[in-house]
Amino acid sequence: MDPAATTEQVTIEVHLADGAGLDDLSDDARAGLSRTLKELPPKYFYDERGSQLFEQITELPEYYPTRAERSILEQQSTEIVAAANPHSLVELGSGSASKTRHLLDAMQDAGCLQRYIPVDISAEITRETAETLVREYPGLRVHGVICDFEQHLEYLPRDGRRLIAFLGGTIGNFPPDERNSFLSRIASLMGSEDGLLLGTDLVKEPARLEAAYDDSAGVTAEFNKNVLRVLNRELDADFDPDFFEHRAFYDDEASRIDIRLRSLADQTVTIAALEMEVEFSRGEEMRTEISCKFTREHLEEVYAAAGLEMAEWWTDPDGLFALSLARPAEVA
Ligand code: TRP
Repeated sequence: MDPAATTEQVTIEVHLADGAGLDDLSDDARAGLSRTLKELPPKYFYDERGSQLFEQITELPEYYPTRAERSILEQQSTEIVAAANPHSLVELGSGSASKTRHLLDAMQDAGCLQRYIPVDISAEITRETAETLVREYPGLRVHGVICDFEQHLEYLPRDGRRLIAFLGGTIGNFPPDERNSFLSRIASLMGSEDGLLLGTDLVKEPARLEAAYDDSAGVTAEFNKNVLRVLNRELDADFDPDFFEHRAFYDDEASRIDIRLRSLADQTVTIAALEMEVEFSRGEEMRTEISCKFTREHLEEVYAAAGLEMAEWWTDPDGLFALSLARPAEVA
C-alpha cells in the first residue's frame, strides 16, 4: 500500500486502510456484546487516554510485570543476543520501544545490529521512535511496518536472521485457541535460524496477581472503564462508566486473571452506530480481558503445540516474569 515515508535510514510501510479499525471495533463489539457472557476485546483499551493510563499502570507499586521484564532485559540482553545472534530485531507491538533499547544496545555491542523492524498499529509513534533511534544508533536502519499484527504477519520482511520480540506478556491476553493459531502462524513464517523472544508473566500467589490488576489508587479501574468511553465515542454509545465497577480475580483452574466490568444496576445501553440495545442486569459482568499466567512446563507445551521449541529461559531474580527464546521445531 502506502510507502508513507522514506528517508535514507527510515522506511515506514503502512498496511492499515483508513476506517479498518472502526470496522473491526464494530464487528468485535457486536459479536462480543451478543454473547451470554458479554465480552469486549482488550485491544480497544488503548486510545490516547487508555495508553496514558496504561503507562501509569506500569509505574504502580502493585504492577510488577513491566519492571520485572525490564530487569531481565537489563541483565540478560547480552546473553539473549548471543543466543539468537540476529541481524534484525523485529518487535511486535513496539510502541515507544522503551525496553527494546537494551536489546539494540546488546546487538550494537555484538556488532550484529543492522535493522530494527517495529510493528505497530500507530504510524505516529512508530515514525517518532524510528527517527529517534536512527539518531541514537549510527548505521541502524529502521523499517517500520504499520499493521494489525494479529492479522498481517506476512508483511514482515524475511531476509537475514531475525529475532522476533513479543514483549510485555501480551501473549497472555490471547484465549488459548487464538494463542495457538497466532504462535503457529509465527512459527510457519520463521526460518530455521530465526528466534522468537516471548515475554510471559508467571504463576504466583493469587493475592499478588490480583493486586497487580486492582491497585489501591484505582488507576486500573479507570483504565478498565476507559473501554466504555472508547465505545461511546467511536460507536455513539451511551455507557455510563459510573454504573459499572472494575473487578479482577485469579481463576486458578485456567491460570489466568479475569478482568471484568460489573453492572451496578439493571440498565439498557444504546449503541447507535450498531443500531443495538444491550441490556445489563444488576451484578452482571462483562469480560474485558484475560491475562494468562504461565509456568515453564506449561509454556513448553504451548510452544510444542505451535510447532516451536523452547531454546532458552530467563527470569528476573524474584522469578516473577520470564523471557524465553523459541525456535521452529525440527521436523523429522
Ligand atoms: N497486557 C496487560 C496485562 O495483561 C494489560 C493490563 C494490565 C490490563 N492491567 C490491566 C488490562 C487491567 C485490563 C485491565 O498485564
